[in-house]
This record gives sequence, C-alpha cells and structure tokens, in this order.
Amino acid sequence: MSTTPPDDLLSPEAVRDPQGFFRVLREHDPVHWSLRHKVWIVTSHDLVLQVFKDPSVSTAQGIGAFRSRLMAQQGELLRHAMGLLDGWMLFNDPPTHTRLRDPVRRSFSPAIVSRLVARIERHAATLADSLGDDCDLVTEFSQPLTAMVICDLLGIDLEERDYLREWARDFGQLIYGASSRGSDYLTAVARAGDSFHARFRDHIAAKRAHPADDLLSLIIRASDSERWTENEIIGACSMLLFAGHDTTSALLASGMRALLMNPDELQRLREHPAHLEQAVEELLRFDGPSKTFIRVPRAPLVLGGHAIAAGQPLWLAILAANHDPAVFQEPDRLDITRSPNPHVAFGSGIHFCVGSALARAEARVAFATLLERFPRMQLAPIEHRWSPTIVDRSLLGLPVYLR
Ligand code: HEM
Repeated sequence: MSTTPPDDLLSPEAVRDPQGFFRVLREHDPVHWSLRHKVWIVTSHDLVLQVFKDPSVSTAQGIGAFRSRLMAQQGELLRHAMGLLDGWMLFNDPPTHTRLRDPVRRSFSPAIVSRLVARIERHAATLADSLGDDCDLVTEFSQPLTAMVICDLLGIDLEERDYLREWARDFGQLIYGASSRGSDYLTAVARAGDSFHARFRDHIAAKRAHPADDLLSLIIRASDSERWTENEIIGACSMLLFAGHDTTSALLASGMRALLMNPDELQRLREHPAHLEQAVEELLRFDGPSKTFIRVPRAPLVLGGHAIAAGQPLWLAILAANHDPAVFQEPDRLDITRSPNPHVAFGSGIHFCVGSALARAEARVAFATLLERFPRMQLAPIEHRWSPTIVDRSLLGLPVYLR
C-alpha cells in the first residue's frame, strides 16, 4: 500500500528543496489532492501544459473567493490595494483579460525591449562598479537592477526604485501566500495600495501631459481606445512592476547560484559566451522563479484520471513540470546547452508571460556582466534561505565573494 507523501508546500523542507518535494509527489501521483492546502497539485509537464491551455479554467476564480472574503472583512482598509488587482490581466478571464492584455502586448514590442538593452547594460555596469569585495547579490545587484529596468520601461524617474522595491515586498504579502506574514500584514498591504495609487495617479497625469517614448505613455494611449478606467491603468502598472521585478530579480540570483554550484558548467559558459542564450533558458528551467500558479475549473474536469469538481483549485507546479524526467533527460543536472528545452517557466496559453523578452534580455546582460567582471566569484559558505511562499522561488540573500 502506498503511503501518502508529505504535501505541505510551506514546510521548511519543501521551501528549501521544492524540486525534491515535487519529485516525490509526481512519482506518487502527478495529480495529487493536498489535504494540507485543499487543492490539487499538478506536477507532470504534460498535465501542467494541458491545464495552461484549457480555455475552461479560470484565473479570476483563483483569487475571487479570497478577494471577496477580504473585501467583506476589510473593504475600506483595502480599497486601493484590491483596486489595483482590477488592472491585473493575470487575475482576469476573457473577455476582460483580452481587453487588459492586448494594449500591453502590442506596446511591449521587441523594439521597446531592444531600446532598453543599452540602458540595462549601463545600469548593470554601474551596479557592478559599486560592489565591494563581498556583497549580497540579491539586495546589491539583482533587486536594484530589475527595479531600475522597470522604471526605464515605464518611463518613470529612477529615484522611484527604492520605493518600488519596498512596495513589491509589502504588496507581495497579498499575492504570494506566504507562511511567514505577520498578523498585521494587511496594514502593510493597505499602505502599499494607498501609496501606489496616489503616486501612479500623478505619474499618469504627468505622462498624459507630456507623453514620451515609454511603455506607460503607450499603454495610456492604447488603453484610451480600449476604454480602460484610471484604476485599471494604475493596476496594470502595478502588475507590470510586480511581475517584472520580483521574478527577474529571483532568476538573476538563483541562476548565479546554480552556476556557482556547478563550476564545470560555469567554466563552459565563461569559455563559450555564445552559449549564454541557451544558458538563460536552462537557468529558467533549472531553478526558475515560479513554483506554482493557480487555476480553477469552471466545469468538472478529468485530469490524469482524477475527476476534478468545478471550483476545486489546481496548483500548476511549474518547477515540477520543468524537472519532469518524461520530458527532460537527467532533469536535476544543469546543462547550459540543453536542447531542446521546452520549459514552462513563462507559463503557456493565454496568460503566457507578456514580459518574457525583457526578462531574457535582462538575464543575458546581468549574467554577462557578472561573469566578465568577477572571474573569481565564489559563494560565501552560508546556508541559503528561500522565500517561504507558495508561489515564488526566490532567495532571501546570496552572499558572495567577488575578488
Ligand atoms: C524571469 C522572469 C519572469 C518569469 C519567470 C515570469 C513568469 C511568468 C509566468 C509563469 C506567467 C504566467 C502566470 C500564469 O499563467 O498564471 C507570467 C505572466 C505575466 N508576466 Fe511574467 N515572468 C517574468 C518576467 C516578467 C517581466 C519582466 C514582466 C513585465 C515587465 C512580466 C509580466 C507578466 C505579465 C503582465 C503577466 C500576465 C500575463 C497574462 O495574464 O496574460 N513578467 N509571467
């Protein structure tokens, strides 16, 4: 008789080694009902992809019940924080999703991204210059870099970057399903919602008065024809900021850690910088920034032989799909020239990451800068701590010796 595997995604072991945790679940059953979380956890590549592409599942319902409950309890306190979510394409289904995504997708052109590359290179070089002999790559390099890129992308002053990092930290407590949030986390979330709303109302007014060649001006122009509300424009900015900052900064840190822990692959990359593009794909697959994303079936569904009732949440375990041995040979080995590499780090289907081109460009620049500047970089001998949440896989710090 098979025993039920551990299924607490917030246990210290699962936070430290989610790939190992998901491996046990996948081997037990790739569609597993978690008694702890009261959700189905989906861990095989084919089934994760199947649900991503299924038009009958909802993302709106994933957050809907949680949102209604909080609004009933704390509606006044959380008015602006919850209002931001109105502009989050990720938590909307068609047709609202299409209305919110199209202007952003059209504006987020390859031209916008390629125009940003020179600036990303400058920011990465400036930050690398400022680093001492040892540093924390998360707080001193990855986070400031990705915050600066988001400021450039939206066309807002770089001075905003520290505010935006703090905002992402506070607002993240609402999104990530953390195990460690304090009892007064809603006060921090409410404060983050209020301040973001006020600041971006001003940014948007300034852009309306003086449009420029940046994503915020383009979104404002495009959204006029799609009749977005002001709230939706502010919310869209918060979505771009949140989705773009935390994830990319997590990839830079976990990717650098993976390379440093695999010195042969690191050496191969140093000797063959032309492998960088493939290496970024492998780092996204190997220990990418997202653990799970939620979907809720609107109608009953059969998945991997299980009857899933309408309304029962599914957690699509991206990190598990990316280590499925049915698709990836030796999935737990880092191979910077892995090919093919059909990872799902950016999701799939209608919610496929709108910022993937920017994320890839940032990662290429950041890794190239770090490898070139610091040929002797080493991990400090300290146990790595990871964000204790359901959704994201990010290091809380990455102390390194640079010289
Ligand atoms: C390494 C970095 C990144 C990773 C791993 C990542 C991953 C993802 C994933 C997995 C999804 C799909 C979620 C789902 O289906 O439930 C997604 C959606 C999204 N991402 Fe990213 N992302 C990254 C960077 C960015 C950047 C730089 C931006 C923008 C500046 C961005 C903006 C978005 C948006 C707006 C969505 C929602 C798309 C929709 O709902 O249609 N992401 N991302």
